[in-house]
Amino acid sequence: MTACDISREMLRQAAGRDPSRAVDWVQLDPCWRTLPFGPACFDAVVAASVLEYVDSPAAVLAECARVLRPGGVVLCTVPNLTNPIRWLEWLAGLAARLPWVRAAGRRWPRLHGYQTYLRISRQRRRARWWHVAGEQAGLSQIRCPAYAWRSSPLRLLGFRRPDDGRGMQ
Ligand SMILES: C[S@@+](CC[C@H](N)C(=O)[O-])C[C@H]1O[C@@H](n2cnc3c(N)ncnc32)[C@H](O)[C@@H]1O
Repeated sequence: MTACDISREMLRQAAGRDPSRAVDWVQLDPCWRTLPFGPACFDAVVAASVLEYVDSPAAVLAECARVLRPGGVVLCTVPNLTNPIRWLEWLAGLAARLPWVRAAGRRWPRLHGYQTYLRISRQRRRARWWHVAGEQAGLSQIRCPAYAWRSSPLRLLGFRRPDDGRGMQ
């Protein structure tokens, strides 16, 4: 198993929970465009709560597809825009632009942390957008367990790389 992130601290914390040392922990360049792995070298790729932080989620999905073997599966979680928490976040994001709210953030570290989250967790896309991005990456959508989507702030997406390689041409 290989795990990667741009954050040294996140990797350090995660590696601390891997006493068996079964995982290769790889730090990515913050500006990476190509994953440092060969084509078709993984059976499955998991991107948990990551795609909302990247500049180009469609390009990252395409990279996930490239490193996936034919028939392999990509699982991702992304923000679920039908959940009320996401509506509140949208309002909080608007409020965060007000000068006095920005000033308050400089005084209260917890507010500052939330403002930073609102700024960097910026990809808010509808389900259809993610499905099209997966298709454009050469992946076909697979059905994921539809557990109470509306009550979860995260949506689970599943894709498969076609076995015949059609989608990767
Ligand atoms: C909400 S955390 C999720 C961490 C972990 N995947 C998990 O499920 O616990 C978001 C992670 O995305 C990472 N991240 C942000 N931009 C990234 C990028 N361009 N490439 C790879 N990882 C990125 C951050 O460093 C952070 O660790």
